[in-house]
Amino acid sequence: METKTQFFTTPIYYVNARPHLGHAYTTIAADVATRFKQMDDHDTYFLTGTDEHGDKIVQAAQKQHQSPREYVNKITRLFQDLWPRLSVQNNQFIRTTDPAHIQVVENLLTRIHDKGDIYFSSYEGQYCFGCERFYQDRELVEGKCPDHGVAPATIKESNYFFKMGQYQDWLIDHIKTHPGFIHPRQYETELLSFLKEPLEDLCISRPKSRLTWGITLPFDSDYVTYVWFDALVNYISALGYPDGALFKKFWPTARHFVAKDIIKPHGIYWPIMLKAAGIDIYAGLNVHGFWNVSGSKMSKSVGNVTDPVAVTDRYGVDAFRYFLMREMVFGLDANFTEDVLVSRINADLANDLGNLFSRVLSMHLRYFKGIVPAMTTAPDISLASDARAAIDGFQKAMTRYEFHKATATVWQFISSMNKYVDMHEPWKLAKATEKRPLLAAVICNLLEGLRTVACLIYPVMPGTSEKMLTALGMTIPEKGFFLLDQILSWGQVQPGTRLAKPPILFPRIDVPAKDGSKKKTAPADRKKDAGVTPETKPVITMEDFAKMDLRTGTIDAAEKIAGSDKLLKLQVDLGTDTRQVVAGIGRQYNPKDLVGRQVVVVANLQQATLMGEESQGMVLAAGTKKELVLAGFDTRVPPGSPVK
Ligand code: MSP
Repeated sequence: METKTQFFTTPIYYVNARPHLGHAYTTIAADVATRFKQMDDHDTYFLTGTDEHGDKIVQAAQKQHQSPREYVNKITRLFQDLWPRLSVQNNQFIRTTDPAHIQVVENLLTRIHDKGDIYFSSYEGQYCFGCERFYQDRELVEGKCPDHGVAPATIKESNYFFKMGQYQDWLIDHIKTHPGFIHPRQYETELLSFLKEPLEDLCISRPKSRLTWGITLPFDSDYVTYVWFDALVNYISALGYPDGALFKKFWPTARHFVAKDIIKPHGIYWPIMLKAAGIDIYAGLNVHGFWNVSGSKMSKSVGNVTDPVAVTDRYGVDAFRYFLMREMVFGLDANFTEDVLVSRINADLANDLGNLFSRVLSMHLRYFKGIVPAMTTAPDISLASDARAAIDGFQKAMTRYEFHKATATVWQFISSMNKYVDMHEPWKLAKATEKRPLLAAVICNLLEGLRTVACLIYPVMPGTSEKMLTALGMTIPEKGFFLLDQILSWGQVQPGTRLAKPPILFPRIDVPAKDGSKKKTAPADRKKDAGVTPETKPVITMEDFAKMDLRTGTIDAAEKIAGSDKLLKLQVDLGTDTRQVVAGIGRQYNPKDLVGRQVVVVANLQQATLMGEESQGMVLAAGTKKELVLAGFDTRVPPGSPVK
C-alpha cells in the first residue's frame, strides 16, 4: 500500500523581535497536527524557520548596534532554542540566509522573468517603512498606515513588477473548485471577496541604493528581492526544489499554517507565483485568528507581549500546549490571561484528568495491591463504547484542525469516567468479597479508559501521555505513540502487571486572593470567568436545521407569573401574529425593561403550559441558570424576519 504523506509548515518568523505567544501558537498547532497525522499513519515532514531579510531587520540591527548578520544569528537562535522547549518536533529549520534557499529564489525569479511575467517600470507611491510596502490611498486610514499609524512617505523609484492579473480567474476557479483549500471557510470567503477587485501587479524589488540586505535579482544586480518573493519560496527551497527527494515526496501534500495577518501573501501571491513558475500549487492553507492578551492586541507599548518561555517555566509545557489548543477556536481570535490559564489548569488538568488518574491508580493499589486483575464480568458496565465515541470524535475534529473540539471530546470522556467512578462506587464494592469480580471489572475498565485518554492526548500533551502510559505499565512503541487504530482494542493493560503509586500529573496552582492570602480555584470559579464548556452534540444536517422556524420578535408586553420568580409571560410580535411566550428569565430581567426589546424566537416549538400559562414558542438566551443573557442583534430588524 502506498504511504500517506503530509507536509506542514509554519510561517517563517521575522527576526526583528523575540519569539512570543503568537509564534508559539502557530508552531504548536502545526506540531499537534503533525503528531496527529503520525498517529493516523502518515509519513510527515514539518518545517519552520526564520525570515531574515528586509528593512525591518536592518533597522532592528541598527538599534542594537550590530550588523544585520550578527543580529539575525542572535535572534534566530532564540527561535531555534524555543521549539524543543515547547516540545515542538520540526524536521527542519530554514533560514532565508541559507545559501540553498537563495539559489532557489534566484531560480524561481529567473523562470518567471524569462516567461515574461516580471517587468521593469517606474512607480511613485505611498510607502510605509514599517510594513515595507506601498499603500494605495484607499487602504490608508485618515492618510495613515492602518498598522503603524504613521503617514507613509512618498517614494518614486523604478522597480520590477510581477504581473498577477492574468492568473486571477484561474485562482478564483481553483479556490471555488477545491473546498478546504482555504480553511476555515470564512477565510475562503474573505479571499474570494478580495479577488472580486482586479489584482494589481506586485512590486517585487528594492533598489540597492535603499536596501542591500536581501537577495540580489539574478537579472539586475542593482536590485534586491522584495521580502515576500524571498520568504514564500522557503516552502519549496526547504524541500530541495526542483529535484530533491523531499520535494517529490512531500510537496503534493503541503499545507501551510498562518494567522489571518498574512492570508493575502499566502492565499494570493504564493499560488500565483507557483503557477507562473509552472509548479503545482500547495494543497491547503490553514488560517487561524489572533491571540490578544488581557483583552488587547499584543504590543510592546502596551507591555503585554507574552513570552512563552516565562509561561512554560511557570506552568509547564504540556499545560501551555493544552491551554492554547483548548482555548482558541481555530480561525477565531482568542484571549490569553494568566487567570484563565490557571483556571483551566486547575479545573481541566489537575481536577478532571489529574484526580481521575490518581484516584483510579490509588484504588487499584489499595484493592489489588497494584497488580492488574483479570477483567471477568459484564460487558454492560464497559466503558469501551464511550472510548470508541471519544476516539471517533477526536479523529474527526483533528482531521478538520478543530483542536478545541478534539480536546473537548477527550474531556467529555474523562467526565464520563468520573461519573462512572461515582456510579459504581468501588469503595463500596471493595467491602463485599462476592463483589470482587465486579470491582475488578470496574477498575479494569477505568484503567483501559485512562489508557485511551493517554493515547489520545499525545499530540497535544506528549509528556503527560508518556507519563500516564508508563504508569499504566504500557510499553510505548519506539516512535513514542500508538497509532489511532491500535487504541480502541479493549484490554491492553495486561493482567498481572504491577502498577506503582501514580505520579501527580498536574499539581493544583494556588491563586493569590485579593487580600493576599492563597486560595485554590474551584472548577466552578473557572466556569465563571473562562466560559462554560458546552456539551458537544451530534452533527445535524441542513435539513434538520431547516426544520426550525427561528424568527425575530419584538416584546410588546411582559409580566411576572404569580408564584414563580423565574418565569415571565411575554407577548411577542412576530410580524404575522403576536404570541404568548413563557420565558425563564425572571431572575435576570425586569419585565418593564423588556418592552420593545428584540428577541429570537423558536416559533414552531410545540405548545406547552407552564405554571398554568400557555407558551407558544421559546425565546433564545445564552449562559447558565444564574447568568442568562437574551440573544439579540446589533441593529433593529423587522419583527418576523427569519433567523438563518
Ligand atoms: N515573515 C513573515 C512570514 C513569512 S512566511 C513565508 C511574517 N513574520 S511574523 O514574525 O510577523 O509572523 C507572523 C505570524 O506569527 C502570524 O501569521 C502567526 O502565525 C504568528 N503570530 C504573530 N502574532 C500573532 C498573534 N497575536 N496571534 C496568533 N498568531 C500570531 O509575517
